[in-house]
Parts: sequence; C-alpha cells; structure tokens
Amino acid sequence: MNPRPITLALTGASGSAYGLRVLDCLLRLGRPVDLLLSDAAQIVIATETEWRPPSDPALIGAYFADRLHADPGLLRAFGRHDWMAPVASGSNPNAAMVICPCSGGATSAIAAGASDTLIERAADVMLKENRPLILVVRETPLSAIHLENLLKLARLGVTVMPASPGFYHRPQRVEDLVDFIAARVLDHLNVEHDLIQRWGEP
Ligand SMILES: Cc1cc2nc3c(=O)[nH]c(=O)nc-3n(C[C@H](O)[C@H](O)[C@H](O)COP(=O)(O)O)c2cc1C
Repeated sequence: MNPRPITLALTGASGSAYGLRVLDCLLRLGRPVDLLLSDAAQIVIATETEWRPPSDPALIGAYFADRLHADPGLLRAFGRHDWMAPVASGSNPNAAMVICPCSGGATSAIAAGASDTLIERAADVMLKENRPLILVVRETPLSAIHLENLLKLARLGVTVMPASPGFYHRPQRVEDLVDFIAARVLDHLNVEHDLIQRWGEP
C-alpha cells in the first residue's frame, strides 16, 4: 500500500531553499507530497531562487515535477482557499505536515487556530488529530510574541525546528547548510535518507 502523503507548506519566511530541498528529497524517495504555497512564499521563492512557480495551483504540481524530474503522480498542489482539498479535513489526514520555511505570521495564525488559509487549516487539522506537525521557523531575532506562540505550539506536541544549521560537518557550500536542515526534517518525518553523514558514523 502506498504511504499516506506528506503535507509540505512553504510560507513567506526566508529560506525557501530548505523547503524546495525537502520537496526534492521526498519526491526522489518516492513519497507522495501535498504542496501548499502561501502568496508570500511565491514572492520569497522568486526573490531567493531561480524558481518561478506558476500562481495557478492547478499548474504548480506539474511545474515542480518537471523541474525536479519527479513522477507527477506523486505531487498535488492546492490553492490557499481550496477547502475541498483532502488536507482540509480530519477525515483524511496526511501522515505528517511540515511548514518549511515557516513565517512568524503563519506561526501566529496556527497558534491562534485561525484556519483562514488552507495552510492554517491543514495545520489545525494536524493539531486536532494529534498528528505530526513540524515548523521550520525562520526569523531573527525572535520577539516574545514569536516565543510565546512557539512555546504554546511546542506544548501541543509540535516539533519546532529553527532553520539554524550546525557547522560541525564542515560545510563547504550553501547546499551543505541547506542539506543539514533538510536532513533533520526528513529524520522527523521518519523518511530514510543519506543526505548528510551522521554524527558518530565514519
Ligand atoms: C524576501 C522576504 C523575506 C522574508 N523573510 C521573513 C522571515 O525570515 N521570517 C518571517 O517571519 N517573515 C519574513 N518575511 C515576511 C513574511 O513574508 C510576511 O510576514 C508574510 O505576511 C507571511 O505570510 P505567510 O505566512 O502567509 O507566508 C519576508 C518577506 C520577504 C518578501
């Protein structure tokens, strides 16, 4: 039986390369992905990378599958108010959800239970269904508002994973730093990978 999809949301925090690398890895490893992009994520992706995903959600899946040489059947994308998407309901929960990168705004909306966009609603579903939710937050410095929101979510079982790569693997390229975070995200999704050398292994 095919594994249940993983929901991957990119929001408008800096660090879109992390989310795009997680997407690349999941598809390469044959994991089905439900992809959600916020409007601000589209702007940040265009600012930080050469990627130009279409604004029409119906075209986003084919765009990424083509660019990543992935099976288009593994990837579904949904619009910000597509309440008919499976991820909008607790009756059809995905295996896990990761928001990478996760903005302070998205963190706040999720902590408040706003559910005003599909990303917020999908996260709300994961919370109420007690399913894994991972936030790769990126902001610096963090205000007390950010910290209170993150504490509230951590106490609800959310994995708060700041986009702060380690340097003990002696990164040589930006991609090595990106892979450090992508590897930790895949670890927490229970997806086997060999992105980086593990500590204590030759
Ligand atoms: C280039 C760029 C970089 C940004 N970086 C961050 C960031 O690192 N963290 C953050 O919380 N917001 C950042 N923002 C602001 C968010 O995009 C903005 O608050 C937006 O409303 C978030 O909406 P979303 O959560 O729906 O994506 C950035 C915006 C731009 C254009």
